[in-house]
Formats: sequence, C-alpha cells, structure tokens
Amino acid sequence: MFTKVATRSFSSSASSAYKVAVLGANGGIGQPLSLLLKLNHKVTDLALYDLRGAPGVAADVSHIPTNSTVSGYDPEGLEQALTGSDVIVIPAGVPRKPGMTRDDLFNTNASIVRDLAKAAADYAPNAAVCVISNPVNSTVPIVAEVLKSKGTYNPKKLFGVTTLDVLRASRFVSEVAGSNPVHEKVTVVGGHSGITIVPLLSQTEHKSLDQETRDALIHRIQFGGDEVVQAKNGAGSATLSMAQAGARFAGAVLDGLAGEKDIVEPSFVDSPLFKDEGVDFFSSKVTLGQDGVSTVHQLGELSDHEEKLVKEAKDTLIKNIQKGVDFVKQNP
Ligand code: NAD
Ligand code: LMR
Repeated sequence: MFTKVATRSFSSSASSAYKVAVLGANGGIGQPLSLLLKLNHKVTDLALYDLRGAPGVAADVSHIPTNSTVSGYDPEGLEQALTGSDVIVIPAGVPRKPGMTRDDLFNTNASIVRDLAKAAADYAPNAAVCVISNPVNSTVPIVAEVLKSKGTYNPKKLFGVTTLDVLRASRFVSEVAGSNPVHEKVTVVGGHSGITIVPLLSQTEHKSLDQETRDALIHRIQFGGDEVVQAKNGAGSATLSMAQAGARFAGAVLDGLAGEKDIVEPSFVDSPLFKDEGVDFFSSKVTLGQDGVSTVHQLGELSDHEEKLVKEAKDTLIKNIQKGVDFVKQNP
C-alpha cells in the first residue's frame, strides 16, 4: 500500500530541496529519525518505508508544519519510495538483546541490508546511502558489494553511521571533566563495535587524565551501546540518541550536497587510510561535499596508547569487513 499525505509544498531552489528516504521508518530508530528529518528544512520530500506501519508514521509526522511532503510506503511501494532520493538512511533490521554482540545480528540483518541495497541500486543509483543497521562494520561492506555487482558503486556516497559514538564521547567526557558536552568535540575513529571504536582523547583538552580514568572513559565510549541494551532489558537498543545521531549525520550529508563549506563528521567509509594493510573501510573525519565524501582525513597525531588501540581495531575490522564481502559472494 502507498499512502501519500499531501502537505502544501513551497518553491525552493534546487540546491536546498532534497528527497530523503528512511528504510525501516516504523522502528524504534525510524520513527524519531523521521520526526527529526521532518524538522530539517533541506528535506522537501520525505519518503518513509517499512515492512509495515510506515503510512501511519507518515500521516503522523506530516502534520508538522515544515516545508516537506511526507509519504508512507509498504513493501509494494519500495520503488516509489526510493525513486529520486538524494539520501537514503537505513535503520532497518533487528536490534540487540542483553548478552548479544552486534555481530550476533549479522545472520538476520545481512540479508535485509543486502536486499535494500539492491533496491537502492535499481531505483536511486545516485543517492548517498547512510547505513545504521548493525553490525555496521559488516553491513557497509555488504552494501558496497551489492552496489559493485550492480555497477552503481560510488565510494564517495556510502556511509556507515558512527555518529552515536561521537555523541557518547562528548557526553561521557563532559561527565568526567565537569564541562559542557556541547563544547566537547571528540574525534572517534575505527569502526562501530566494542574495541573497534577508538576515541582520540589525546586530541582533546583532556590529555592529562590519569591512566585509570582515561581507560575507564575509553571503555565506556566503546561499550556505551551495552548500557542502553542492558537498561532496556530485552526491549531493544539505543533508539532516541541514535535518531538524533542519524539526523545529525544525514543533515551533514545534505549540507555537503548543498555546497556548504567545512562540513566534517566522522564516518565509516571506503577509506584510503589503511587499504595497504587490508582495511578497506575505516571511520575517520570526512569532509562532506556536493558529491559526497570530498576528503578522508588522516587520523592526526596519536598517543602510543591510541596507536595500540587503532592497531587492535584494524585487526578486528579486517575480519568484520571480510565477513560482509563473503556474505554477498555466497548469497548474491
Ligand atoms: P526496531 O526493531 O525497533 O526497528 C527496525 C525496523 O526495521 C522495524 O520497523 C522493522 O519492521 C523494519 N524492517 C525489518 N526488515 C525490514 C526490511 N526488509 N525493509 C524495511 N524495513 C524493515 O530496531 P531499531 O531499534 O530501530 O534498530 C534498528 C537497527 O539499527 C538495528 O540493527 C540496531 O542494531 C541498529 N542500531 C545502529 C546504531 C548505530 O550506531 N549505527 C545504533 C542503534 C541501533
Ligand atoms: C549502539 O551503539 O547503541 C548501537 O550500535 C546499538 C547496539 O547494539 O548497541
């Protein structure tokens, strides 16, 4: 079923009017993410897709008086949801329960993400694709392999959303430092699970934390997702903070597409940084431009401890990435 919820549309210049599709829009992340994207004035066409329930979410958020048309789609509307999209955000898939790792989600989420990537290649081959579904370290390579097989892969337009790690780092550092989290800018690099998450505290003002405090802080940032999974006690993982992270990242991608300058966010991308060591995807700061990624930034100066953490992250990432690549080879 396809429900189009008409709202009044206003004329706007091509450089600030974008279609964004959310795949998995009826989920714990999808609903608040759709709400936040409705508040983004660059989004003029918001397409909400899910296996079920997206027309209801669309009807609900469409009453918010911002300058966008909102449409809700069930499975038969996937082509229409995607066609013309500039940005596709994918939070479709199952979340963790206590005791699970993100990798435990692979068996279910790999095929969900693969199939949505196929549809993205068919119906929106030029869109920027932002992957939220876990395990991100493997789902991003899955999307890349599918797009390659379809001849539509643009490495500048595929992103693993790691922004939640950045949000957590700001928050947790501020709690230790007694500072305002709004002013705490922490670069987080690597990937999005456990030890692959590497916050570069030495590049903040908090270089001189004692070792115990520093290690506890790094551990909390690396395993922050577990805090929410445990607190929700079987009812899922982070949804509201993730929606804020996803809206911030998609907003940055849109700012880049619109030609705004100095739009920089960390993201898990097809990266030249460690390709010679076999790490094809890595999260670091990237500058976002009119064609997607315009610059993948180097990590900058690292402490000895951070060098060690990055090395450990790379070892795990190689395996996580290969798992995604192998999945598509074996299950095209
Ligand atoms: P949820 O179960 O609340 O929602 C998932 C939604 O996806 C559901 O509405 C479901 O119907 C939909 N869905 C499933 N298969 C689909 C398909 N083939 N096409 C379209 N929609 C489909 O889960 P959630 O809490 O919203 O989490 C979603 C995913 O995001 C999980 O994999 C979770 O681990 C991940 N996540 C990632 C981050 C991150 O930082 N990248 C943070 C939090 C959660
Ligand atoms: C998170 O970091 O909160 C997400 O990746 C969800 C999870 O499973 O922890």
